[in-house]
Amino acid sequence: MAEFKEISPNASAGEKLLNWVDNRFPASKLYKEHLSEYYAPKNFNFWYFFGSLALLVLVIQIVTGIFLVMHYKPEATLAFASVEYIMRDVPWGWLIRYMHSTGASAFFIVVYMHMFRGLIYGSYRKPRELVWIFGCAIFLCLMAEAFMGYLLPWGQMSYWGAQVIVNLFAAIPFVGPDLALLIRGDYVVSDATLNRFFSFHVIAVPLVLLGLVVAHIIALHEVGSNNPDGIEIKAHKGPDGKPLDGIPFHPYYSVHDIMGVSVFLMVFSAIVFFAPEFGGYFLEYNNFIPADPLKTPAHIAPVWYFTPFYSMLRAITSEMMYALIACVLAGAFLGVTKAKLTGLIKGGVIGGAVVLVALMLSIDAKFWGVVVMGGAVIILFFLPWLDNCAVKSIRYRPDWHKYLYGIFVINFVILAYLGVQPPSPIGERVSQVGTLFYFGFFLLMPWWSRLGQTKPVPDRVTFAAH
Ligand code: HEM
Repeated sequence: MAEFKEISPNASAGEKLLNWVDNRFPASKLYKEHLSEYYAPKNFNFWYFFGSLALLVLVIQIVTGIFLVMHYKPEATLAFASVEYIMRDVPWGWLIRYMHSTGASAFFIVVYMHMFRGLIYGSYRKPRELVWIFGCAIFLCLMAEAFMGYLLPWGQMSYWGAQVIVNLFAAIPFVGPDLALLIRGDYVVSDATLNRFFSFHVIAVPLVLLGLVVAHIIALHEVGSNNPDGIEIKAHKGPDGKPLDGIPFHPYYSVHDIMGVSVFLMVFSAIVFFAPEFGGYFLEYNNFIPADPLKTPAHIAPVWYFTPFYSMLRAITSEMMYALIACVLAGAFLGVTKAKLTGLIKGGVIGGAVVLVALMLSIDAKFWGVVVMGGAVIILFFLPWLDNCAVKSIRYRPDWHKYLYGIFVINFVILAYLGVQPPSPIGERVSQVGTLFYFGFFLLMPWWSRLGQTKPVPDRVTFAAH
């Protein structure tokens, strides 16, 4: 236990109160460690707004969610009508509901930008691997949270979207059908499903999400922030032990972030007040029709933020399986001929590839679609160990890396677009190429990230006062 600190009897009442608290709870210590004496690099740019914005959207979602729960009824015969009641009769209910539905899409926009920043500045690399891993876990939770929340209005898309996705789990060999039954609590999506999704959406997942966000920030503050130059500011400290290129988070970045928050809130409000459906992308038109278990909509599409992954799922046809088998064989061949492996490991690679190909030939393509869709998120966890480039930031990488990252983004957007569209032969082919590119980008990263001439990294961060 720390020593009790005495304070002068002449101190103000506020100081005395703080001293009383500090002797029992590390209030000042936490304030200093995480705000007034957390030294962040002075060269943060636009991309560094998205962490604080993600926090803001998290708060918006929790607060609006609490008010929605006051009027929402998690019961299959009442759910749709209770949402309409919120929209039409509850004072300001429409605002709360539109903030929550727009907030869901805003969350993904902000988090995708936040992740992209990590990608281009190498923020996932040593010593920030855990910051990244907590981030990836947050992303997974966010997907689960959004998926289960979408069932709650009990519209046609809520119902049929959940039906399609839960049925995917049934494709897993042996345990699949039982697992799907366990998730639904019934043989089809029903009131039991609505109840459990409500419970997960309202309490279980948000609790995990909050815990992960705290872990994410504690891990970040333990190692310190990266920056657009990818330089460790802790390598250059002044005689006072403070990083020469660091500035206290508060007041410098707390004030700076207000600008990001202001711009964000302007765009957010414009959407909430003038285009909450956002052309059917944020709230799908079909979801204004009550769920009808007897009437399947002609075209079932998830909300836009899931569609890149949904496209990858749809890309895995039985024809595509041959392309994947060819990739496995090529990978095993390269591993055995090019990598410096011992005879035993080589044998393991060949054996593993043979078993995998046998499984790929014998299990339905639908299952592999699920594997690919899940794998597209899981692979992100491994990013810290896939990147072998000598430098962290895109600024000092060979120029062609920039183009490659550009193509990666365009490919991701094309996959997202195709996932919203009804299936078509050309769309299928493009999404297959897109899926191969997405995985190629990550799986071949250990190789391509080493190629090319990097630029000299300066000792100190580049910063021009403005
Ligand atoms: C609810 C979602 C999230 C919240 C509230 C959140 C919050 C934050 C905050 C406040 C920061 C410090 C400010 C900044 O650097 O922008 C940060 C940094 C970071 N976040 Fe997140 N984050 C979230 C999701 C994610 C996800 C999904 C990933 C990656 C998969 C991620 C990866 C990172 C990384 C690598 C950093 C360090 C960046 C650097 O120092 O350059 N975060 N996060």
